[in-house]
Amino acid sequence: MTFANYVIGNWKMYKTSCEARAFIEQVTPLLDDFEGKVYLSVPYTLIHELSELSRQTKIVIGAQNMNDASEGAFTGEIAGKMLKDAGAYFVLLGHSERRKLFLETSDFIHKKVLRAFKTDIQPVLCVGETIEEKDSGMMKEVIHEQISSALQGISLEDAAKVILAYEPVWAIGTGRAADIQSINEAHDFCRECLKNLFGEEVSKRIPILYGGSVNLENVSSIIQLMNVDGILVGGASLDARTFASIAVKCKKVSHS
Ligand code: PGA
Repeated sequence: MTFANYVIGNWKMYKTSCEARAFIEQVTPLLDDFEGKVYLSVPYTLIHELSELSRQTKIVIGAQNMNDASEGAFTGEIAGKMLKDAGAYFVLLGHSERRKLFLETSDFIHKKVLRAFKTDIQPVLCVGETIEEKDSGMMKEVIHEQISSALQGISLEDAAKVILAYEPVWAIGTGRAADIQSINEAHDFCRECLKNLFGEEVSKRIPILYGGSVNLENVSSIIQLMNVDGILVGGASLDARTFASIAVKCKKVSHS
């Protein structure tokens, strides 16, 4: 692998327009030493304003969810083409909070992935097991199901545009990141799943990010792992200084 610097911040349901503008102003100069782009997954209401504000910066704006339909009578939902129109470049799909709190199924997530490609928005597919699944030795089974159901039947060309994020549910928002050995094992397995689905060449082009309580202390040891190509940061992405410091620690390394 040659990429190891994908950094995505997930703001979840945080920040008003005023708070978001202040963040962008503060974070922009702090990213001078960062090679590459920093992805920020923001609330729908901020997409348009922040994508305008982030032109000429290293920040790329995206969304946290979208519906699988192109449009229709789905009160409260949002379509991919609306996100695109507002300036979103990418979208998180299958985040565990969506799976758990909003009962999103594998089939629904698969349809969203297909819609993202049709709409030309880059999908960031999130997968990960719960603590019960981990404790009963089902990590691989769960991840395999989530990856293969979401990405089944997509072309090799589309597959090469996917970003995969491994986020063990028990590590999200808990302040307790997975241990290095578990991350290593899960990421190697994710790569194996991608290889089985799309072949060696394409699988190498799909970045696999780790998410779940990433912070300033643990980021360096996580990012140096062979099959970790970046990070997805929730809580620690809300503060500009902390987020920029984490990003800068994700130096590009060659895993080849
Ligand atoms: P966290 O969230 O960094 O606060 O654990 C990660 C995520 O939900 O993507």
